[in-house]
Amino acid sequence: MKLSMVADHARWPRENDIIFNLSERAQKAEQNIGKENVINATIGALMDDDGKLITMNSVFEQLKSLPNNEISAYASIAGQDDYKEAVKKVCFQGNDPDGYVRVVASPGGSGAIKLAMWNYTNPKDVILTSDWYWSPYGIIGEEAGRGVANYKLFNDEGKFNIESFKSKFKEIIDKQGNIFTIINTPGHNPTGYTVSDDEWDEILDFVKEVANDESKKIVLFIDVAYIDFVKDDIASRKFFKKFGNLPENILSIVGFSMSKGFTAYGMRMGAAIGISSNEDMAEEFYYSLMHSCRANWSNCNRGAMSILSHLIADEKKYAEYKIEKNQYKDMLVKRAEAFVQGAKEVNLETLPYRDGFFVSIPCNNPKEICEALTKENLYLVPLKMGLRFAVCAVSEEKCKKAPKIIKEVFEKVKSLDTTSV
Ligand SMILES: Cc1ncc(COP(=O)(O)O)c(C=O)c1O
Repeated sequence: MKLSMVADHARWPRENDIIFNLSERAQKAEQNIGKENVINATIGALMDDDGKLITMNSVFEQLKSLPNNEISAYASIAGQDDYKEAVKKVCFQGNDPDGYVRVVASPGGSGAIKLAMWNYTNPKDVILTSDWYWSPYGIIGEEAGRGVANYKLFNDEGKFNIESFKSKFKEIIDKQGNIFTIINTPGHNPTGYTVSDDEWDEILDFVKEVANDESKKIVLFIDVAYIDFVKDDIASRKFFKKFGNLPENILSIVGFSMSKGFTAYGMRMGAAIGISSNEDMAEEFYYSLMHSCRANWSNCNRGAMSILSHLIADEKKYAEYKIEKNQYKDMLVKRAEAFVQGAKEVNLETLPYRDGFFVSIPCNNPKEICEALTKENLYLVPLKMGLRFAVCAVSEEKCKKAPKIIKEVFEKVKSLDTTSV
């Protein structure tokens, strides 16, 4: 047998992240033939029209104005108090749900997912999310011995598939007695779908019905990583109110991230926000997650927390941040509209896009199409059920052009292989 030093649970396939690989290939192509001739739609970060990372001045000027000791010092394990208050303010923006709310700081939104999943699932449990989903949910679960089950995200009308959600939810909770489900909205990665307020009502009516059986434990994890890139900042937050006054055996956890909304990807700052009608359940959430912080990373990036606290404490600075952020949001909206319109013009099917960084294209042979597209100098990400195009990283002009190139490659591949597309 081949020698292996790692423990049994740590033996994983030796593979590099496919997204970073493709992104490197795109960058090489840019060096070889010029940026203007390459479409790099692999990157999950806002890039300007020249392909440079966008960084918000209001955020980084704040960082640079901090005294050294505010960056250098250890932070409290669950996060600085002013940061925790600031998280609630920027996340809810006045739509605070009624109930007991506790915040635990985490390294990015990923840290919040890890904290929540670890503390609210048992070994061998399966977590529930949609069939189109951000693959780290599976990786985070897998690392802890948890599996993933999926419901179909879309029904035939391109709306949230409540029937599929209900049936998978029931199947899991009947078996496990508990359920942990992740809903990534608004601006879902990878499809750009946003659950509407009416769809939330349907989801919550059903969940409350299941919660009538008091032996059942239900955790709703709402991943709002893209909430700052939704067309209407205020309307998109109304759904938070719906998590107030839920039965005590339903715990809602909002996964907050500074990565996208503050262009602070590498600063690794986020939070898990627990919402319960029962004060003791909220306290339990706080102390269980805090224990995990200590056990994993001790405490988070104090300078990054201070950025948010200072921005929120100073109305003028916060207003400046919002103006800056909304300019980028408007840019994103135009790019996405250009892509979706371009797709319509050439009859390229896309999944229903509403908000956020990505648009997805369903297909049966994503890897093959993706590889064929690299020959046309267009780089995007192959997923299990299709392709992900990062409108966040591509100029409006290129977003307009890309669907035609993709459609032509679909046709070419189809003519070579009748089983595909
Ligand atoms: C769906 C989703 N959730 C959460 C995150 C959290 O990211 P981070 O850990 O960088 O805050 C991301 C980032 O790509 C994401 O796409």
